[in-house]
Amino acid sequence: MRPVEIKEGIFWTGVVDWNRRNFHGYSISHKGTTYNNFLIKDEKVALIDTVAEEFWGAMQCNLAHVLGPEGKIDYFIINHLEPDHAGCLALAVEKYQPEKIYTSPMGQKAMQAHFHYKDWPVEVVPTGSEISLGKRTLQFVETRMLHWPDAMLTYCPEDKIAFTNDAFGQNWATSERFADQVDRTFLEDLMKTYYANIVLPYSPVVLKTLKALEEMNLDIDMICPDHGLMFRGKEECKWVLDKYVEFAEQKPKKKAVIVFDTMWHSTENMANAVASGLADEGISVRVMSMKSNHHSEVMTEIFDAAAVIVGSPTHNNGILPLMADMLTYMKGLRPQNKIGAAIGSFGWSGECVKVLTQALEEMGMDIVDPIKVKHVPTHDTLVQCYQQGKDIAAAIKAKLD
Ligand code: FEO
Repeated sequence: MRPVEIKEGIFWTGVVDWNRRNFHGYSISHKGTTYNNFLIKDEKVALIDTVAEEFWGAMQCNLAHVLGPEGKIDYFIINHLEPDHAGCLALAVEKYQPEKIYTSPMGQKAMQAHFHYKDWPVEVVPTGSEISLGKRTLQFVETRMLHWPDAMLTYCPEDKIAFTNDAFGQNWATSERFADQVDRTFLEDLMKTYYANIVLPYSPVVLKTLKALEEMNLDIDMICPDHGLMFRGKEECKWVLDKYVEFAEQKPKKKAVIVFDTMWHSTENMANAVASGLADEGISVRVMSMKSNHHSEVMTEIFDAAAVIVGSPTHNNGILPLMADMLTYMKGLRPQNKIGAAIGSFGWSGECVKVLTQALEEMGMDIVDPIKVKHVPTHDTLVQCYQQGKDIAAAIKAKLD
């Protein structure tokens, strides 16, 4: 994709990765992503972030479109060192020989650890620092742990743009560049997926950072994340900022997710009985087999659910491996405000619900009594599962009403 002038003298020079499918275990399905970066032409020319290393050729091409083949870049601004954004940094330093490379205090440490540089002209810009490009100023705000310690935001007051790096991103490869050009419902869904699978553990930091930004009273009329669509206009910016507050507060809906793996369908039949009990009480239910769903799809559904019911038969004195994977993934993302329950069938030793319940307890969930069934559920034990669904529904209502 060719560069796009997003405001006078400011260009999107990123790349579209149509075929990316996975970020460290987070499946982005068939949507791909973009690595956005930005070139500002002023008395000094500044580049904000790079792109993934395999797109070095495309990035140079885009920069040459704006600057000409021998174009010079004076300043690099590196908001985040993860290789999808800083992957071309070493190549770009060699080619463009920048006068300065600006990054956060933690960014400088990460830059050293990634690139082991000796004589790069790195200058640390903690929160409150600013530089002049001539007509424009760039101000820096550290956004530590959103989602790495090095993360920072760059704000241009003259153009009212916040370059926010990973924050407010979505993984969606599109030919459109702005959020107002695409379907809003789908965009919001992808923002939610991105938040649930990347940003969720840092929700307290999100709230703190948004509050700090509000107190700084930044006048923002464009938000440019490093992934996906950008937001232009005050209303759009307010929408996306409010959306992040909503995500970070993790207020659950009247919704339950039953996630399970099954050996010979006993745990699956139990899951369906629990689902009926929940649905009959008016709770919206998702029943998700780990054989049919990626753990990141399950996590997106769990994100705004009030209850999580996990199911596995006993397997080698523990649980089935796909459920162990799911629990590890979920625990790392630290979902809050959930009710949890376990179900499972067993043949002889029967550790499944103990293992599952312990995992839910470690995530701080409010536990509803588990149910385990020997080999194959009977009509009566399925009624017990149905009743467990009703009990979980009552717990959800008691919590939310
Ligand atoms: Fe998009 Fe943290 O990298």
